[in-house]
Amino acid sequence: KLINGERWYDTQGNLIQAHGGGILQYGGYFYWYGEDKRLVKGKSAGDLYGVSCYRSRDLTEWDYLGNALPVNHEEPDHPLYYKKILERPKVLWNEETGKFVMLMHLDIPDYTYASVGIAVSDHPEGPFCLLDTKHPNGYESRDMGVYQEQDGTAYLLMASHWNSCMRAVKLTGDYLDFTDSYTYLYPLVGKCESREAPAAFQKDGRYYCITSACTGYEPNEADLASADSMLGIWRSLGNPCRGTDAAVTFHAQSTFVLELPDGRKLLMLDIWKISDISDSRYVWLPIQWDESGIPFVTWTDDWRAALDAAEQQN
Ligand code: GAL
Repeated sequence: KLINGERWYDTQGNLIQAHGGGILQYGGYFYWYGEDKRLVKGKSAGDLYGVSCYRSRDLTEWDYLGNALPVNHEEPDHPLYYKKILERPKVLWNEETGKFVMLMHLDIPDYTYASVGIAVSDHPEGPFCLLDTKHPNGYESRDMGVYQEQDGTAYLLMASHWNSCMRAVKLTGDYLDFTDSYTYLYPLVGKCESREAPAAFQKDGRYYCITSACTGYEPNEADLASADSMLGIWRSLGNPCRGTDAAVTFHAQSTFVLELPDGRKLLMLDIWKISDISDSRYVWLPIQWDESGIPFVTWTDDWRAALDAAEQQN
């Protein structure tokens, strides 16, 4: 059983390492990718290991499929050199090209390179090959997320201008580059603070994006923004968390929203453990809808039971 905030293990009994992650649905499976923060003997705690890939049919039993994007140990100039920064990897499947595309935040330790890494593979479990690092539309990009429409159109959500702006940028058809079509989610009228950790979803043609404030690995208050299209005009609906510890997002930070085929949605979050980042925990919360049609989340220990009890939403 995967209980929110407790340790989650894969089918081999190892701690699941998929922080700042996201889930791809492909061929009847869920593929969960994330930052692998395992501690390796002889290496320092912050050193990169790679992007892990897990597979499941039921979201509960996760098979570890290995390191989908191993890092580089020899060349300090390489964007994936193990002393650099790799955060929030997300994978999309491109139906037109048949390729799996991984987008991630690639940076140097002082966070001044601020790029999007683009990697590609013929298989969901990798190995992914890094093609390039980019600054979409000429802007720096730090925390990021992705959103893919039913018709395949995909977007990158990215924190730019030292996180004072959150932008949505349309990807090219092959997902390997960025178009000139973009918009700003933040700053918003009445909400001028910086945002990070975007997690977008959609219901009945209305788009939503949950973000965190910028306090590093310390928890803070989330915000929910909404628009009638991804590149539309966004406005804030306030904190989507309700109940105890809502003001600190239940001590967690958003990373992705999994949209199930029947319309149910699961907000995925990380509880970062600063003293031992490899032991950071996961929290998955089904998205609920109030009488006014506003999405919200409440804490639950057992996300599986809450998800099973949630009504289908199509
Ligand atoms: C958080 C951010 C994470 C990571 C972390 C480093 O604010 O969301 O992705 O960058 O800071 O301190």
